[in-house]
Amino acid sequence: MKIIRAKDYDELSRKAANVIAAQVIVKPRSVLGLATGSSPVGLYKELVARYKLGDLDFSGIRSWNLDEYVGLTPDHDQSYHYFMYDNLFNHVNARPENIHVPNGLWKNPEADCAAYDAEIVEAGGVDLQLLGMGTNGHIGFNEPDEVFTRGTHIVDLAETTINDNKRFFASAADVPKQAFSMGIGTIMCARKILVVVSGENKAQAVKNACFGPITPKVPGSILQLHPDVTMVCDEAALSVCGDLVK
Ligand code: GLP
Repeated sequence: MKIIRAKDYDELSRKAANVIAAQVIVKPRSVLGLATGSSPVGLYKELVARYKLGDLDFSGIRSWNLDEYVGLTPDHDQSYHYFMYDNLFNHVNARPENIHVPNGLWKNPEADCAAYDAEIVEAGGVDLQLLGMGTNGHIGFNEPDEVFTRGTHIVDLAETTINDNKRFFASAADVPKQAFSMGIGTIMCARKILVVVSGENKAQAVKNACFGPITPKVPGSILQLHPDVTMVCDEAALSVCGDLVK
């Protein structure tokens, strides 16, 4: 795992945007696995700015998003579908037919999740998967558990996650209790993985995921087994790693 140190969130966003920009330039038909949450907001802004400068072309890319809250319609302003259009797709030239986000209203979760994974395989697999990380070490919405999950599936959100994400909703009671999420298996099939982590509240999760035992109790720890992971962290997120990160 390669860990890149950034002095603050802005530098983190620029460095991470460089990795995605390089991917899109080198392979214009890239399959991107995209993420939501506050961590990637800055890098999406960077990508939009570079598109506006004429340096990036998204017309060939195909994308599959990591996760979505169960029960939120795509036009709900806290749905991840809405987030992706608001932060990226409304501002660049990706083709709507190439953009995929799990639908919070899927009626047959098992079949719909399996079909989502099958579409990714059909497209040739994910070239570059973007991830954030939860304070409990979750990736996507794969919460700490006894086992690693395989494919896209329905998840019961952990109390910590509901608590962390209530800042986006009127109250904790309004945060959906379940989500659809790519599985650990889906994520680990990506050829390259880019993780962005910012803030002191993530510092212990970063240390556990990068240097602790590989265990489903810290879902992000599985990334130690992937051959091509780049993690971009700001100083605050690395604050308990000490000399483990140069
Ligand atoms: C959210 C999302 C994850 C995200 C993580 C961190 O709940 N499901 O995909 O990476 O938790 O979120 P944030 O970047 O807002 O801290």
